[in-house]
Amino acid sequence: MRIYRAKDYNDLSRKAANIISAQVIMKPNCVLGLATGSTPIGTYQQLVEWYRKGDLDFSEVTTVNLDEYKGLPKENDQSYYYFMNENLFSKVNIDKSRTFLPDGMEPDSDKACRDYNEIIHSVGGVDLQLLGLGHNGHIGFNEPGIAFETETHCVNLTERTIKANMRFFVSESDVPRQAYTMGIKTIMSAHRILIVVSGEDKADIVKEAFFGPVTPAVPASILQLHNDVTVVADEAALSKCDESVGRK
Ligand code: F6R
Repeated sequence: MRIYRAKDYNDLSRKAANIISAQVIMKPNCVLGLATGSTPIGTYQQLVEWYRKGDLDFSEVTTVNLDEYKGLPKENDQSYYYFMNENLFSKVNIDKSRTFLPDGMEPDSDKACRDYNEIIHSVGGVDLQLLGLGHNGHIGFNEPGIAFETETHCVNLTERTIKANMRFFVSESDVPRQAYTMGIKTIMSAHRILIVVSGEDKADIVKEAFFGPVTPAVPASILQLHNDVTVVADEAALSKCDESVGRK
């Protein structure tokens, strides 16, 4: 596991975007696994800026997102499809027919998850998976206690995650209670993983996830066992780790 210490959120976003753009330049027809949430927004902004300058070409890129709320249509401004479209897809020259998310409007959970696993297999797996880190150590919507061997599945969101997501909805009752998410096994099968973490409120979980025991109680801790993980975290998120972490 490589850890990069970023000075602040802007620096974190630039560093993460650099890693993603290197992937796209090295393999123009790569498969990017993407995440929503607040942390990667700056990364997407940086990628869009480099695309506009002519330094990046997404025309051959395929994307598969980590997760989607069950029951929200694509047009709902809180759906993850909408988020991806707003933050990246509509701003670069990506072929929309090669951008995939779980189908939130498929009411049959087994079918939705089976179909999504098939899509991930049919595109040849993920070259680089971008992740954010939840306060309880979740990755995707894999909450504490999740079995490490799961593929895409339907989850009941925890009260804490529902509360954390509330900021994106008018009221708590509007927050969906279920989501489809790639499982830990799916995430771990990506060739490379990039996880971005920002802010002092993540400092405890950063220490636990990357320096504590590997346990389903902290889903992100499994990343310690992947052979190509890069963590890009800002000073605040690393503030509870040893001073030397992430310095050259
Ligand atoms: C997003 C996702 C979540 C977030 C996590 C951190 O697709 O699956 O696991 O990455 O909740 O979210 P932020 O970045 O908002 O702190």
